[in-house]
Order: sequence, then C-alpha cells, then structure tokens
Amino acid sequence: MDNRPVGFFDSGFGGLTALSAFREILPEEDILFFGDSGRAPYGAKSAEELRTCAANILHFFQNAGVKAVFAACGTCSLLAGDLIADCGVLSCNVVTPSVEWLAAQEGKLPLGIIATAASIRSGGFERALRAAGVTREIISVPCPDFVTLIEAGVSVSDMRVYEAVERYLTPVRDAGTSTLLLGCTHYGIIEPAIRDFLGGDVTILSASSCGANALAKALREAGLTGGSGKETFFTSGNAAEFRRTGSLILGRDLGPVRAIPDWEDAP
Ligand code: DGL
Repeated sequence: MDNRPVGFFDSGFGGLTALSAFREILPEEDILFFGDSGRAPYGAKSAEELRTCAANILHFFQNAGVKAVFAACGTCSLLAGDLIADCGVLSCNVVTPSVEWLAAQEGKLPLGIIATAASIRSGGFERALRAAGVTREIISVPCPDFVTLIEAGVSVSDMRVYEAVERYLTPVRDAGTSTLLLGCTHYGIIEPAIRDFLGGDVTILSASSCGANALAKALREAGLTGGSGKETFFTSGNAAEFRRTGSLILGRDLGPVRAIPDWEDAP
C-alpha cells in the first residue's frame, strides 16, 4: 500500500487516453498528469529535444515525490526510454507492452503501425518487433497531422480528420493489414474515424491501453497500489485551453489545471 501519486506525462492530450484506460483498472490511484502542450508536437522534434523534454518532466515528477512514472507517450517511450527506465522509481511506457501484445499474435497478414514522425523515423517499433520474433510484413506510417488537429481541439467528426485518416491510412488498408497499432497515444482520440475508414475486419490496438494495463500490473506486483483517486493536471501550455479541450476529450471536467512555465517549479 502506497498513497503517493503516479506521474503520467505526454506532449498534451494523448496521455488522457491512457489515463482513461488506467482509470478503468485502478480508479483509486492519485495521479499527477503533465501535458507538455507548450512544446507539442513531440513528433516534430529531434531526439535530443525529446530527451530534454523527458528529462525536464522526470525531474518535475521527482520533486513531486511520485511513486511511479508512466510515459503515456509513444515518442518519449522510444526516444527517451533509457531516461524513463532510470528515473529512480517504478516506470512504465506504452511501447514495450504494445510490442509484447503484437508479438504474441499469430497470423501472416501485414501489421500496420501508425505513430509520430519521430517514432517512425527512429525505427524503434520495427526493431523491437523483429527482436521479439515477428516476421510479418510491417507497414509503418507517420501521421503528423493527427496530433496537430487534436491539439487544436478539432472534433473527431470534423472533415479535416476524415481527410487526414484517408490520406494516411489508404496504404495500410490497401496492403490488407489485419492489425493496426495506434502507436501514438493521441490517435485513440480519433479512433472512431480510423475504425470507420478501415472497417470492422481490422483489429485496432491502442498503445495507451497496453501501457495502462502494464502500469496497473506493475503497481500491483510491486505492492504500490493505493490512493484516493485524486487527479492533478499540469500543463506547459495554456491552462484554460487545456482544461476546456481536455475535459471534452476525457468526457468529464478535468478541474483546475495548473500552468507550469518554469521547469524548476515543483507542485
Ligand atoms: N502522444 C505522443 C505519442 O504518443 C506525442 C504526440 C506528439 O506530440 O507529436 O507519441
């Protein structure tokens, strides 16, 4: 039993999909959520920039006394995985459990992976899948406009979302992909549009859900569960906008969001 909070972080709203999934499993945990909207999109950043973002947030969580850190961001999971693993408390990411899930699937049809440009460029998903013994064809597609639209608060039913889905996912559909990994946590927010386009035969796997399950399992196994279900939101962007759009995405009010423009600030 440990009542200290768990630190969740992402470049912005994507991490909320992981928060939702986690809440269904462990509703009583206290969570500090950091959305780095002031520096989003992460997918357009260099490895060095991403590692600085991750290091800043890990430091913030360290000062806040978290019992665990959850990288609710595929891009940081891939490009700053070592920093996250060495952060001094229990940590989880969204990539390792997604790769484990995919590697356990049988079948010969191609696997699709959609993620940020930085994630796809890193080759990290593909390397990890090959290392886990996956021999199927892998179709990897970066979808940068998804995050831009989502961070701008565009709704899933907006035509711009449907146009972007069609543009990015046509090669995935035409290749006869049987399983698609949403390798960026933002993409779950527009999953209905992706599902509509691909049809019911394609299995859609969310990195957010895989990561949330792995985090809950790790907390239980380490005997670290406990809390009162409190959530505290921080953003490097505009606090009022984060609250408004984040509440729409989550389907409930986030409550007050604290803006953290100064990286040395502790909650
Ligand atoms: N949600 C993040 C991810 O899972 C980053 C998206 C972005 O800011 O480009 O990769």
